[in-house]
Amino acid sequence: MAPTFESQQMAPLDLHAGRENPARNSNDGHKSRVTVVGSGNWGSVAAKLIAFNTLNLPSFHDEVRMWVFQEILPSGEKLTDVINRTNENVKYLPGIKLGKNVVADADLENAVKDANMLVFVTPHQFMEGICKRLVGKIKEGAEAISLIKGMEVKMEGPCMISSLISSQLKINCCVLMGANIANEIAVEKLSEATVGYRENRETAEKWVQLFSTPYFMVSAIQDVEGVELCGTLKNVVAIAAGLVDGLEMGNNTKAAIMRIGLREMKAFSKLLFPSVKDSTFFESCGVADLITTCLGGRNRKVADAFARNGGQRSFDDLEAEMLQGQKLQGVSTAREVYGVLRHRGWLELFPLFSTVHEISTGRLPPSAIVKYSEQKPIFSR
Ligand SMILES: NC(=O)c1ccc[n+]([C@@H]2O[C@H](COP(=O)([O-])OP(=O)(O)OC[C@H]3O[C@@H](n4cnc5c(N)ncnc54)[C@H](O)[C@@H]3O)[C@@H](O)[C@H]2O)c1
Repeated sequence: MAPTFESQQMAPLDLHAGRENPARNSNDGHKSRVTVVGSGNWGSVAAKLIAFNTLNLPSFHDEVRMWVFQEILPSGEKLTDVINRTNENVKYLPGIKLGKNVVADADLENAVKDANMLVFVTPHQFMEGICKRLVGKIKEGAEAISLIKGMEVKMEGPCMISSLISSQLKINCCVLMGANIANEIAVEKLSEATVGYRENRETAEKWVQLFSTPYFMVSAIQDVEGVELCGTLKNVVAIAAGLVDGLEMGNNTKAAIMRIGLREMKAFSKLLFPSVKDSTFFESCGVADLITTCLGGRNRKVADAFARNGGQRSFDDLEAEMLQGQKLQGVSTAREVYGVLRHRGWLELFPLFSTVHEISTGRLPPSAIVKYSEQKPIFSR
């Protein structure tokens, strides 16, 4: 019989403890413990995928800790209490059971302290603060993976989130990106994802094992920067695609925007990191993620509304009204990319990326996304 929830909150849980399965219990010291840092829409789905696997794979402890940025729900209850009582993230993934072995924890340090596998999945703007809080608090030898799309732009140049995690916490960090609209994976519709790793194939394979299910097919490639930049930059293209939808320009125009966006994604990635491989753009993290995000994601949806309002309501306003606490990544990524382009004198090489930023800040009207001009030759090549 599964333990009660109170016992899950008191101590690390092993749902198989005490069962007659000596093969599972003899090797506990070598089992990996997983913590998911983040509990939004994708964070909750990631916890569900992982929790299914940790119950079924002998090399992992059953329990999956999930760090929750604490919120008080309209009912007056804490989000962590509701998740632990109902096994559901009622705010960010309502209607989906996460797995009884997922334990929500609002204490960041406590959530990570025993983990040797750390899954980071928060909106990117919070990661710098989270990393600062975690310095010196991570178990020695821990491995990390980032599911986060976005970058930080610093004086010395752009910093990918996996590099931020690696440099601040002194741990190796892989990435997982792909055509992964969280709500579709939550209801177990088939999809694919790509793990990007730097050197250690064995670690990458462990991540593949931890995430793979019959409906979530994961493969690994040796190109961290390529995978992460694909996942990050496609959100900027999705804003452009949403603008085109809002302007009711039709499918040909949208396909043109997606093609130009993909070309800029590849050029930008290779200029920043010459090691990025062309083949990465044909993986799930590349063209497949671009397609799904331009057809169905939240960036597309909010940009569509922005264009329909003639740019009269800000993205911040629309995000607050339309996403109920979920975060839009494309607008902030466009700003960060614009900062890099301006700093390096590359603005003219990337007319789509720079136009998205100028539209989102109100400097250009939404219709500029489909205009040819001498200054912004989006359709010239
Ligand atoms: N949702 C998707 O379909 C999807 C798919 C793939 C990748 N991603 C990426 O996953 C990452 C996480 O997105 P998500 O969809 O899980 O989140 P979300 O946008 O659904 O939710 C926002 C999360 O941020 C938390 N939060 C709010 N203020 C905070 C603060 N000050 N500090 C820390 N956390 C705070 C909220 O509690 C909530 O958990 C993003 O980088 C996103 O691009 C999302």
